[in-house]
Amino acid sequence: MLALTTPYLWYTTRATGLVTLVLFTMVVSLGALVANRAGGTVVGRFEINELHRSLAVAAVLFLAIHVVTTVLDSFVPTGPASVIIPLTSSYKRVPIALGTVAFDLLLAVWLSSLAKARLANATWRFLHWFSWLAFATSLVHAVTAGTDARHGLGLVVVVVCAGIGAGAGVWRVLARPPRAAGRTALSPLSGSPSSAPTSASSGVPRPPRSPSRGPR
Ligand code: HEM
Repeated sequence: MLALTTPYLWYTTRATGLVTLVLFTMVVSLGALVANRAGGTVVGRFEINELHRSLAVAAVLFLAIHVVTTVLDSFVPTGPASVIIPLTSSYKRVPIALGTVAFDLLLAVWLSSLAKARLANATWRFLHWFSWLAFATSLVHAVTAGTDARHGLGLVVVVVCAGIGAGAGVWRVLARPPRAAGRTALSPLSGSPSSAPTSASSGVPRPPRSPSRGPR
């Protein structure tokens, strides 16, 4: 097989790993704000929800680059299967397997959000909790597999991400509001016609207009 390695692939793997972790921290923290219905007049719930989604897309893109450069770079012989199947990497077997588990959990979260219109709300909520598990697993992956994440600035980034994520997780559970009557808005990528209008302040689908209030 063709052996492909350049320092650029290796640097990209390391840099995108850390960028993905930072984005992932922002995504779970914003997710906690959305779930606990935080937001006011300065930054509304709709804006927080949109930021949560946009950063999630950015995190997925950086994660994709992270795994593609890993697989292409023969300097780290992980193999393509290690992206999906844990414990198949011959390089840092267990630390890479933790990254794989985080990847699989995120895949479940992502696919369930795309299929949100077709899922029961309880199923979608259950699968969305996987993102916390994925976040925790990816932190352990970073400190066990990482070259930069164990020293100096890299370690500072990981510790700050862990602190913010843990704080958001604890606040998410302790400040949990009573369950809202409606469901949260559908992903714009879900392609469902029912994903259309949402209330600007809450991100929750608007109830149908009363016919009596329309123009006569
Ligand atoms: C949510 C999923 C993941 C996140 C957030 C993540 C994040 C990270 C971070 C922060 C690092 C440390 C970078 C450094 O210190 O140099 C890292 C290293 C690494 N990750 Fe991931 N990763 C994930 C999934 C994966 C997967 C699925 C694979 C394999 C297919 C993988 C392969 C690697 C490799 C090869 C390294 C470098 C190890 C080394 O420096 O020797 N990661 N990752």
